[in-house]
Amino acid sequence: MAAAAGVAALGTTLALAPGASAATTLGASAAQTGRYFGAAVAANKLSDATYVGILNREFTMVTPENEMKWDATEPTQGQFTYANADRIVNHARANGMRVRGHALAWHSQQPGWAQNLSGTGLRSAMVNHVTQVATYYRGKIYAWDVVNEAFADGGTGARRDSNLQRTGNDWIEAAFRAARAADPTAKLCYNDYNTDGQNAKSNAVYAMVQDFKARGVPIDCVGFQSHFNSASPVPADYQANLQRFANLGVDVQITELDIEGSGSAQADNYGRVVRACLAVSRCTGITVWGIRDTDSWRASGNPLLFDGSGNKKPAYTATLDALNSGGPTTPPTTTPPTTTPPTATPPTTTPPPSTPPPGGSALEGGGEGPQGRGRQAPSVPLTVVKSGRAPAITKLEPAAPDVAAGHAETENACGADVRPEHAPADRGEAGTHLGVARSARSAEGIPAIHGGGGSQNGQLGAGASTTFGFQGTGVGPSATPTCSAS
Ligand code: G3I
Repeated sequence: MAAAAGVAALGTTLALAPGASAATTLGASAAQTGRYFGAAVAANKLSDATYVGILNREFTMVTPENEMKWDATEPTQGQFTYANADRIVNHARANGMRVRGHALAWHSQQPGWAQNLSGTGLRSAMVNHVTQVATYYRGKIYAWDVVNEAFADGGTGARRDSNLQRTGNDWIEAAFRAARAADPTAKLCYNDYNTDGQNAKSNAVYAMVQDFKARGVPIDCVGFQSHFNSASPVPADYQANLQRFANLGVDVQITELDIEGSGSAQADNYGRVVRACLAVSRCTGITVWGIRDTDSWRASGNPLLFDGSGNKKPAYTATLDALNSGGPTTPPTTTPPTTTPPTATPPTTTPPPSTPPPGGSALEGGGEGPQGRGRQAPSVPLTVVKSGRAPAITKLEPAAPDVAAGHAETENACGADVRPEHAPADRGEAGTHLGVARSARSAEGIPAIHGGGGSQNGQLGAGASTTFGFQGTGVGPSATPTCSAS
C-alpha cells in the first residue's frame, strides 16, 4: 500500500514486472503499450468537479469537443477567439495531458460568414483559418484533425458536396500543406466516420492517403471516429481496416469512440475496439467522445464509459482489462515522415509563449543532428525508463551534446514534454544541452530540429523501446548527440 501510494504521488507508471498488479486507470494502462487514452472535453464542464475528477484521473489526451471548430475560433472573419479552447488546452497541459486539435477544416460548424463564401474567397479564408489557428497553437497540439468528414456516405466513394469541395478538389491538400507550414510539430490527420470498416467510403479515403503519400502531401495519421450503435455496429474487419491504413505509412487513431448499449454487450464491444487498436502497432491511441453518458452527443444511447453519476460502467472495466491484457509489449513504432518539408512561407504571427506542462516521460536515447533543411536523420534507439505523468524532467545528459543551432523536440518521440534543466537548450543555442521542449521552439526564429519519425508523439510504456529521428532545419557540423533524462 505504501509503495503504491508513493508511486501514485509521483504520478509515474513503472514497468510491470511479471505478476505485478495492472494499471488502474485508462491512461496509465494505455501508456504501458505506448499509447494514449483520451476524451472529448467541453469547456463549460471544467467547473464540474465530478467531471474534472474523472478527466484528471483517467485520461492522458484531450480533444476539445466544439471549442476549436471554425465557428468557435473565427466567428467573425479575421477575428479569432480562443478563450474556450484555451481553457481546455491549459487544463490539459497543467495536468500532464496532451491535446488533439479538432477540427481545422470541415463543412459543418462553419461560421455564417464562411457559409456565405465560395470560390477563391472561401479557399483563401479556409487556408487563412488553418494557418492562424495552427500557428496560434503551434507546439501545443499532438495531432490536428486537419480535415474532417470530407467524403460522402453511400457506395460512390465520392467526395462530400460542400462549399469547401466546390472550391476545387485540391482543398484537402491545401489545408494539410497550410497546417504543416503553420505547425511542423503536430501530426496531421484526416478524420471521418463510417470509415471504420472496409467499404466504398473508407476505400476512397484510403486512395486519397495513398495519393498524398505518393505525392508528398503532408499527412501523418488517419482518425477513425468509431461512433457505434445497433445500426452501425463495430465492423467485423475493424482491425484489418486500421491495419491497411497503417500499412500506408500513417498512424491510425480512434478519435471519437462511443458505443450505444448497456451491460456486457456494450462492454464486449468496447473490449473489441481496444484490442483491435492494440493489435495494430501504429494505432497510437483511443479517444472516447465524452466522459459520462450524460455528456454525450448521443446521451440517450448511454454510449460512454461512466454513467451520469460518474460511476464506472462494465464498459469501463472491459476497456481497462483490454488495455491491461492485450497488445504488444512494444510501443507503437513509426517510420520517420517522408513528406517533403513545407515550402510555404511561415506565417508571421508570433505564437503565444507557452509554458511546459508539468508532466514528462523520462527517456534514454539519442538523436543525430542533421544539417540542411529536410534531411532525415537516422533513427536511434530510445528507451523510456519512466512514463506517465511524471514530474518535469530535471536532468538531461550529457550536458553538452554537440547539437548546432537547433534542438531536438523529443516530445514527439517520448510522448510528453521532456525539458532539460537549463534554459539555453530551449533557445537552441549551439553546444548546450540537447533541448527537448517543443513548446519553446524557436520563438526567436532560431532554426529548429523538428521531431519526426520514431514513435512520433506516441507515448512509450515503461521499459519500452523505440527509435526516432528528426528532420533538421538548422545548419552546423555533423553531430551525433545522445541524451538521457530522468
Ligand atoms: O452552445 C450552444 C448553446 O448556446 C445553444 O443554446 C444550444 C442550442 O441548440 O446549442 C449549443 O451548441 C451546440 C453545441 O453542440 C454545444 O453543445 C450545437 O447546437 C450542437 O449542434 C453541437 O453539437 C456538436 C456537433 O458535433 C455539431 O456537429 C456536438 O456537441 C459534438 O459532440 C459533435 O461532434 C462531432 C465531431 O465534431 C465530428 N464527428 C461527429 C461528432 C458527433 O456529431
